[in-house]
Amino acid sequence: MQSLPRIILAIALTLISCGGPRGGAQAQQREVERWNRVLTAEPLSFNTQPNAFLVEMTRGLPPGKALDVGMGQGRNAIFLAQQGWEVTGFDPADKAVAAAQEQAKQAGVKLTALVLRDDQFDFGKEQWDLIVLSYVALRHLVQRLYDSLKPGGRVVIEAFHRDAAKAVSIGRGVVFETNELPRLFDRFRILRYEDTEGRGDFGMQNTHLVRLCAQKP
Ligand SMILES: C[S@@+](CC[C@H](N)C(=O)[O-])C[C@H]1O[C@@H](n2cnc3c(N)ncnc32)[C@H](O)[C@@H]1O
Repeated sequence: MQSLPRIILAIALTLISCGGPRGGAQAQQREVERWNRVLTAEPLSFNTQPNAFLVEMTRGLPPGKALDVGMGQGRNAIFLAQQGWEVTGFDPADKAVAAAQEQAKQAGVKLTALVLRDDQFDFGKEQWDLIVLSYVALRHLVQRLYDSLKPGGRVVIEAFHRDAAKAVSIGRGVVFETNELPRLFDRFRILRYEDTEGRGDFGMQNTHLVRLCAQKP
């Protein structure tokens, strides 16, 4: 039998949208509440450690300004802040953002954490050395990511492959076809693309994942 946190997580994964103002205010509020529950309920049902691909892709990079889109409870943002990055993160799930702020305080690192959706956040122009998109919807953001990265800045992405959605229901926003990410980021220099089996940070099972690290020329 599935545990309650897993069931809540499965429902949340089904509804991942992170896609701007779709669905109306009530649907957005329901999604916020869902993610607040998943990201703060005990026991936590996802990988609370920083995403391993992000850790690998940032190893040895000189820290600069980083943005974590849909930061959740801040596992990746806090990791980056601990490595010396100047980190901004945002997410509409207010309790998750509050948890991130609290954790940052306890860890003694500075973190700018905002309760916002992607359609409310001003990405700016040539602002960021690194943008993290970990299990969040991003198809609608590619142009904004490009414009807001500094030349030489990087995106680091992990998401589900379409095959992962055969076994469980996952919202299409975080599900990608083979080679879809390199195609979406074709104006970028692709530094690493992986299409592979691995343990998903959400779902916590072996599944089919896609990962991209790409650099703005
Ligand atoms: C699977 S969680 C990933 C959280 C975090 N990136 C991580 O890897 O731990 C998806 C996150 O997307 C956030 N989200 C949903 N809609 C969003 C939107 N329109 N803009 C920004 N974040 C959004 C949710 O609140 C949730 O925290």
